[in-house]
Amino acid sequence: MASSSSSSVLFMISAVILSSVLAVVSASNFNQDFTITWGDGRAKILNNSQLLTLSLDKTSGSGFQSNNEYLFGKIDMQLKLVPGNSAGTVTAYYLSSQGSTHDEIDFEFLGNLSGDPYILHTNVFSQGKGNREQQFYLWFDPTADFHTYSILWNPQRIIFSVDGTPIREFKNAESFGVPYPKNQPMRIYSSLWNADDWATRGGLVKTDWTQAPFTASYRNFNANACIWSSGSSSCASSSSNSNAWLSEQLDSTNQGRMKWVQKNYMIYNYCTDSKRFPQGFPPECSMS
Ligand SMILES: *[C@@H]1O[C@H](CO)[C@@H](O)[C@H](O)[C@H]1NC(C)=O
Ligand SMILES: *[C@@H]1O[C@H](CO)[C@@H](O)[C@H](O)[C@H]1NC(C)=O
Repeated sequence: MASSSSSSVLFMISAVILSSVLAVVSASNFNQDFTITWGDGRAKILNNSQLLTLSLDKTSGSGFQSNNEYLFGKIDMQLKLVPGNSAGTVTAYYLSSQGSTHDEIDFEFLGNLSGDPYILHTNVFSQGKGNREQQFYLWFDPTADFHTYSILWNPQRIIFSVDGTPIREFKNAESFGVPYPKNQPMRIYSSLWNADDWATRGGLVKTDWTQAPFTASYRNFNANACIWSSGSSSCASSSSNSNAWLSEQLDSTNQGRMKWVQKNYMIYNYCTDSKRFPQGFPPECSMS
């Protein structure tokens, strides 16, 4: 009796551990992983929780956030951006912690007139300080289909990728005195809002509200990540084997692909904007 109940307790404990490990890599379910935070019905979870849409009209945009907080992760999401005339709209997809000294890792998609290119804007904040913008055009139409936007965030580096191609790497430059995001857990956030005071051609092109509502779609969320809960990390107990991403870096093939993107598609890099940094570039700029 005693032994059978203790073995069933053991079974229950291992089932709980197994299911929590599996939850980290399970297929996307927006109802389970995210909460719609604003937009009064403009954000919707559809298709058996496999699809999420955000919309924007003259009254409001909309947004959602992850239920989990993460401290490091390799996080993928597929987005299909607002089609047609999306000028003035911004779709933001980012990781952020809270407070005035927050850390943040940003993708922002700046809309445009039909046929004119979106800008993919990226930034990294550490300890409340950003000013690390890099901007890119994309090598495909991001409104025609879903594409995968990924953030690898581990203790050594942050790598932004598009369809598996790295576009930007932000290395840990603590040895140069640059704070690195590694102590504050972050949630995933996304929102679609009106930013026609700056987004398209620097604010020259305004949102055409006759085209509203504007809609962006999300699917296939996948987080290979350390979930932070009550002061401890889910990675503390899992095997180092399943967390190879925690020490992942770019091999020479991927470094070459990133160079290709930066040579052909990068349109702004704070590390080359000498007007902005007359006293000299930030220390991390000399690390590439
Ligand atoms: C939503 O589900 C419908 C019906 O199953 C399917 O045809 C459609 O492709 C799905 N949409 C997306 C964006 O996954
Ligand atoms: C919009 O298109 C114009 C003209 O091609 C281009 O200069 C601009 O960079 C594009 N993107 C945004 C977000 O303004």
